[in-house]
Amino acid sequence: MSHTVAEERPVEHGDALNLIRTAIAEAPGLEAAAQRAVELLHDRFAHYDWVGIYWLDATGTELVLGPWIGPEATEHTRIPLGSGICGAAAASGQTEIVADVNADPRYLACFTSTQSEIVVPIFADGQVTGEIDIDGSDLAAFDETDARFLEEIAALLAPLRPRDGQPSAA
Ligand code: SME
Repeated sequence: MSHTVAEERPVEHGDALNLIRTAIAEAPGLEAAAQRAVELLHDRFAHYDWVGIYWLDATGTELVLGPWIGPEATEHTRIPLGSGICGAAAASGQTEIVADVNADPRYLACFTSTQSEIVVPIFADGQVTGEIDIDGSDLAAFDETDARFLEEIAALLAPLRPRDGQPSAA
């Protein structure tokens, strides 16, 4: 018997995908839609302690923090491509799962509570245009199931990049 991808997807991931799809369709604008998406991810998954979207700027050299939700603001509101785990994922176009941030020399520290991190690139027309960054306060909080789910979320977020990648507040 063959299984489709949809059958193997955990039910909570399917529910969140549907909610986020609806929230994006109903939001009054791109930024509100992206904000609602990070809020839904944060609220529905207990291990998603800090959830943010970085957009690549117009020059393609810097990531600029867009909507985020979590206990604290990050000082890393702009990250050069190639710097940190965020910059690595944007440069390579590969999802990064870091089980122990303190053991990864690339890690740019934001919060003392963070133990692990997942960064999932967002693509448009085959090019990286941004990424989802999630911090966890447990070691190894994220696995391949999170990666596949967040890659589907990333596809929903791709049309929400602001013009030139600059959020209105940046
Ligand atoms: N830790 C990230 C920087 C962004 S903060 O986690 C929000 C990194 O190493 O790139």
